[in-house]
Amino acid sequence: MEKIGVVGCGLMGSGIAEVAARSGCDVKVVEVNDEALAAGMARIERSLNRAVNAGKLDEAGREAALGAMSFSEDLGDMADREFVIEAIIESEAAKLDVFEHLSKVVVDPNAVMASNTSAIPIMKLAMATDRPQQVIGMHFFNPVPVMGLVEVISSLLTGEETAAKCRAFATDRLGKRVVNSGDRAGFVVNALLIPYILSGVRMLESGFASTEDIDAGMVLGCNHPMGPLALCDLIGLDTTMAVAESLYEEFREQLYAPPPMLSRMCDAGLLGRKTGRGFYTYGS
Ligand code: CAA
Repeated sequence: MEKIGVVGCGLMGSGIAEVAARSGCDVKVVEVNDEALAAGMARIERSLNRAVNAGKLDEAGREAALGAMSFSEDLGDMADREFVIEAIIESEAAKLDVFEHLSKVVVDPNAVMASNTSAIPIMKLAMATDRPQQVIGMHFFNPVPVMGLVEVISSLLTGEETAAKCRAFATDRLGKRVVNSGDRAGFVVNALLIPYILSGVRMLESGFASTEDIDAGMVLGCNHPMGPLALCDLIGLDTTMAVAESLYEEFREQLYAPPPMLSRMCDAGLLGRKTGRGFYTYGS
């Protein structure tokens, strides 16, 4: 699969577009408006510059990656793609709309349509299309250029050929390790990670320990690269909330229920790094 489409150019979509372009694919990216596209393009440029400064990419590679990407606001531009990865907000209604639309515009009957959803059932997205055997979950991790994992999630109807193509794309093309997961909310990683982050928020909410101490406890006590509250800021409080809600809806287990503090911070627009403030405050 060489002709890649990425729907959504936020934190995850921009990372997916970047790694696909860096691997030599022809990448088309679609966003809803000018502002979102400009922010996504700027994020990709910053990340490529960071890779060059870190010695992970040379100037020619940077130019080639930039040249391999094109951007638009029209989902119809996905028509000629062999592989489309949806990476929009974690809203079931919005994702269903995209999949229904893709099913109408993507011409190649063998094209694969993947979702980077963290928790929404792949089966539901597949049923919005006319080719459920080619719909699959491909869940990347943030920051995409740095994190070495992709979860591949087959629904009850996903074809083995589709899954094999996606596994090969993630490993051979992108150099990531694949974990296969069943189609249950949270898949493997978030089913474990989200209760851990929510426990950190509950600990803070109860006044049991400070933000800094909770995070230092896990960084220095358990060698995690960042503590649960800093990680929640990196993921985005809104995304963490959406994944927790999907998990709670699916399993009705108390450990997945979003604590009020998380909910109020989302209401206040304190969404973490992307808005400059969450559990910590960030500079420009
Ligand atoms: N391209 C390639 N490499 C890059 C890069 C880029 N754009 N940006 C940074 N790097 C490299 C750096 O060169 C560095 O490499 P070396 O280790 O070889 O030196 C490495 O990536 C780390 O970068 P930094 O030194 O700049 O940053 P850091 O050491 O402070 O680490 C971090 C930052 C990678 C975010 C680290 O804190 C971390 O791993 N945190 C945990 C992240 C995590 O858990 N993510 C998953 C979130 S869950 C999710 O995404 C799924 C969901 O559904 C919610």
